Amino acid sequence: MTDSELIRQAEAARANAYSPYSGYTVGAALLCADGTVALGCNVENASYGATICAERVAVTRAVAEGKREFSAIAVVGGKRGEPAETFFSPCGICRQFLREFCGDDFRVLVACKGEIRAYTLRELLPSGFSADAMRGDSHD
Ligand code: THU
Repeated sequence: MTDSELIRQAEAARANAYSPYSGYTVGAALLCADGTVALGCNVENASYGATICAERVAVTRAVAEGKREFSAIAVVGGKRGEPAETFFSPCGICRQFLREFCGDDFRVLVACKGEIRAYTLRELLPSGFSADAMRGDSHD
């Protein structure tokens, strides 16, 4: 699975976003250790706080299918019907949610105007809280 193929799958998932309130559509494609991909899109709600981000939809789908090891996620977002104008930046809750299952070297791919950028979870969530911390281990 190439980075550009994972981005393409995130773009396809973005088309299914349910975002009548923000008009902002997000797609995510999560690459599982077994080579399969779990897709997600943002799903909004009239009670705004009940909205779920695309990344968490992808992770919860994968976990529900028995998968807990992941190597990368591609995320793209922008105004509905328009190509991404900026590189997507996953929200803090999603970074924390990914940290539950993904290590420091897990890759987060974003794309804009044909360019792909890759970050590690370590870069996006330095010194993040996790089960390691609850055991008293440091991962810095
Ligand atoms: N959103 C995501 O899907 N992922 C993020 O990491 C940040 C925000 C969604 C939630 C909401 O439907 C819309 O983008 C605007 O906040």
